[in-house]
Amino acid sequence: MSTAPFSHMDLRCPLFIPGNRRDMLAKAGRYSASAYIPDIEDSVPLANKAEARAITAEALPCLNELGKAVVPRVNSLLTGLTMDDLEAVVGPHIVAISIGKVKNSDDIAVVDGMLSELEGDRGIDVGSIGILPWLETASGIVNAYAISCASDRVRWVAFGAEDFSADMGISRAVDIAESDTGSVTEYGEASLLYARSAVAVAARAAEVQALDTPYVKFRDPDGLRSEAGLARRLGYGGKFAIHPDQIGMINEIFSPTDAEIERARRVIAAARAAELEGRGSVSLDGEMVDAPVVARARNVLARAGFN
Ligand code: COA
Ligand code: MG
Repeated sequence: MSTAPFSHMDLRCPLFIPGNRRDMLAKAGRYSASAYIPDIEDSVPLANKAEARAITAEALPCLNELGKAVVPRVNSLLTGLTMDDLEAVVGPHIVAISIGKVKNSDDIAVVDGMLSELEGDRGIDVGSIGILPWLETASGIVNAYAISCASDRVRWVAFGAEDFSADMGISRAVDIAESDTGSVTEYGEASLLYARSAVAVAARAAEVQALDTPYVKFRDPDGLRSEAGLARRLGYGGKFAIHPDQIGMINEIFSPTDAEIERARRVIAAARAAELEGRGSVSLDGEMVDAPVVARARNVLARAGFN
């Protein structure tokens, strides 16, 4: 029998912090993110990679002391920078590394080999550092399931809308004139729906947590609410924040409300009572409660931290 979808380490709201911004890295403890992602990839210009590695490496012990998962993001295998980045960050202060533009399970095998070498050299249990791959190219989406179960190190997968759109040669709603109201529907951007859903379904099948792309308009809370709500409805367990103002809303949207928790408890109680009477389905407030409804209620309680 498969495990509940939320039994893995729950990242829910990881905060990106540019890896070359000593000032921002020092502020991390002010914010109630569920993980910190010091970024050496896209938020750092090529000329500043070495500096970012040094600043990030220096910040890792302090970030780790904050008691949240620390998951530095390194440059993709396409850049040739990955091993140098990993050399800077692999150590006892990180839970996992994140890596962009993963195309297939062979990429995971390559990163796994690099991590094993560094773990062995540095006296860390080989296999203990996780991998959070970004599925953000057409091939990453097509191979989402194979990537998600390529290694026990993969415990989460991220959908990256910006790079996915660039790879596909499609525009984002933010690139399109305001007058083009057809570009965003209640299902989000139609051009992203297949890929966003594919990542959620692959992650579930592989029993890893799916994390949704950052919402780049960081001063648009209504847009964030709508996109995070969509991701949650599609099966995502969380969404990246790029700005501290996004954290509260993301945590709220990916956490069950008191009403949902109360309802879940009543569903489970009703099902238990029915079972004692030899019935598998029962009515509650005019709705049928049966096994899948109970399973969803258990998911709600697991996401709320009750087991
Ligand atoms: N991590 C930590 N602190 C952050 C932060 C972040 N990601 N983003 C902003 N802050 C801090 C600012 O330093 C500022 O602190 P202060 O109150 O002490 O002055 C405060 O939050 C408010 O920031 P604000 O002035 O509103 O934003 P900004 O203009 O300084 O920064 C961005 C805006 C987008 C440049 C910044 O949020 C950022 O760099 N985000 C991360 C980008 C990233 O990592 N991208 C890669 C993944 S897609
Ligand atoms: Mg990317």
